Amino acid sequence: MKIFLDTANVEDISFYGDFIDGVTTNPTIMSKYAHSEHTSLIRQICGLVSGHVSVEVISSDFNEMIKEGRQLASIDSKVCVKLPCTLDGLKVCKRLSIDGIATNLTLCFSPTQALMAAKCGATYVSPFIGRLDDAGHDGLALVEDISDIYNANEYETIILAASIRSINHVIQAAMIGVGAATVSPKILKQCLEHPLTDKGLEIFANDWKVGK
Ligand code: G3P
Repeated sequence: MKIFLDTANVEDISFYGDFIDGVTTNPTIMSKYAHSEHTSLIRQICGLVSGHVSVEVISSDFNEMIKEGRQLASIDSKVCVKLPCTLDGLKVCKRLSIDGIATNLTLCFSPTQALMAAKCGATYVSPFIGRLDDAGHDGLALVEDISDIYNANEYETIILAASIRSINHVIQAAMIGVGAATVSPKILKQCLEHPLTDKGLEIFANDWKVGK
């Protein structure tokens, strides 16, 4: 399972570089870290990772999204154009896929949106686990349904588990067998640590001192 870091913070991207396959952003994240224009930050992030960097279009209109998507893709070959799972977003996905541009269909909340994303040639589809859970639904059940649909139909679109709120979401997504998950720096840190490992190290260090 590929791990993407859901941030535009270059310090975090550098720090966790050994564990990540790429980066995902969204307009909320970009507005937090890119002050005037986004291009130089996108280039900087692309220089720090080996895989895709998802950058989302701002417009929601077909013609504007196509223009924006092509512009984003021209910044760096690692840019993956993030598009909403809307009728227009899916149409743009189809056009960009034909041009060989990587796409990430975001804000996916239903199996049929994921089915359509695969049919339009999306590179990734991002089901939002946490936001579904927040709304009283079962985010992981959606991921399971999409996985079943993709396996049964042999679609190549990669499921990118998004809106992850806990390490349990990471574990369950990996058990389902999704191709990728995006996590915040906070969740990635939790994936790399365990209090009993720290406690055990402390005990070993003390015992070593006493034994000397
Ligand atoms: O970037 C997509 C997704 O991971 C956002 O998550 O926490 O804003 O629901 P969240």
